[in-house]
Amino acid sequence: MNQQTANEQVTAAFPRPPSAGPVVILGAGLVGLPTGLVFALAGYQVRLVETDPPRCDSVPSRLTDLLDFLVTHGLVEHATAHMAMPRIAVSDTLEDVLSPAGVTPAALIEAVFEDLELKRSVLAAAERSLSPEVVMCSVTSGLSITALSGGLQHPERFCGAHFWNPPHLIPLVEVIYGARTADRTVAALCTMLEYVGKRPVVVRRDVPGFIGNRLLHALQKEAMAVVASGVASAADVDLVVTQGFGRRLGVVGPLAVCDLAGLDLVLDVDAYLLRDLDRSADPSPLLTSLVEQGKLGVKTLEGFYQWTQEEVAGTIARRDAALIRALRADRAEQAQPAESSH
Ligand SMILES: NC(=O)c1ccc[n+]([C@@H]2O[C@H](COP(=O)([O-])OP(=O)(O)OC[C@H]3O[C@@H](n4cnc5c(N)ncnc54)[C@H](O)[C@@H]3O)[C@@H](O)[C@H]2O)c1
Repeated sequence: MNQQTANEQVTAAFPRPPSAGPVVILGAGLVGLPTGLVFALAGYQVRLVETDPPRCDSVPSRLTDLLDFLVTHGLVEHATAHMAMPRIAVSDTLEDVLSPAGVTPAALIEAVFEDLELKRSVLAAAERSLSPEVVMCSVTSGLSITALSGGLQHPERFCGAHFWNPPHLIPLVEVIYGARTADRTVAALCTMLEYVGKRPVVVRRDVPGFIGNRLLHALQKEAMAVVASGVASAADVDLVVTQGFGRRLGVVGPLAVCDLAGLDLVLDVDAYLLRDLDRSADPSPLLTSLVEQGKLGVKTLEGFYQWTQEEVAGTIARRDAALIRALRADRAEQAQPAESSH
């Protein structure tokens, strides 16, 4: 089987430890903190900038919990964890992080709230302290990379780096071109991400939702339509995925599934099925109505399901256990000669 993927990697120069400067991460939240840990475990010095005092104060304990979790589950050696912890420091200002003057970061990763204006201003302010060769990126889930780079003097050194949550357990990072991103920026970031154990996939054009969220939201939209039309309950829709084709999807992607099924068969099914799917351009009325009723999911313990706190914790634990098994399987596979990329 042809092993070439659309994600043709170019091996590029990038700053690597121990001589590299620190990886600077703006925002030590759900994504920023574990992303920092990923880089520290690979040997980078990491400097987190966090403006919220309680969040800033909680960085050491959150890091300790994360490292304990990774060690307990056999994903990180105790000695590696021990060495990673002192590589990470947190501050409430970028100036602190970049002093003494002359520190050249290996890269700057913006991971503040999902707010275009905030991100633009934080990026523009950060850029003033950085030399033009430093790669800058944003972990935005879906804001336009081109719009985010609007206030930058050197937009060619900026791109998207969409980590999936939780960043310490999911290998994928979508690396997204903005309209003015240079090839060398994407190549350097991809090579750096591979160095820290991530699986970068290049998104060649800055489209809403990049790749992953386009696919995920298309699936969720149809799932909501099936529930809203009374065809099945939310629980049964979820079972169809978790006990059915979801099991394959972790191993064989949707387009390889087409090839395995036969493209003639896929075409025959699409010819009658697609016209029956939900083609509305608006969000699902069921979703809108739940949100209007204040049913926001686990945040309010009610959404498509009723939740208890124990059920929330249990679901997250089951999800993480499955992600850990997948990571272990990846590592076992990497120890063998590669057979197939699909
Ligand atoms: N949560 C997810 O599942 C997920 C997944 C992928 C990407 N993302 C993206 O990651 C980014 C961060 O999301 P999150 O879930 O980590 O949010 P979060 O609220 O957990 O973290 C954001 C952090 O940024 C800090 N912050 C705000 N302004 C700042 C500033 N000027 N300087 C430094 N720190 C500042 C906040 O205090 C907060 O701790 C968003 O762009 C989001 O879309 C989130």
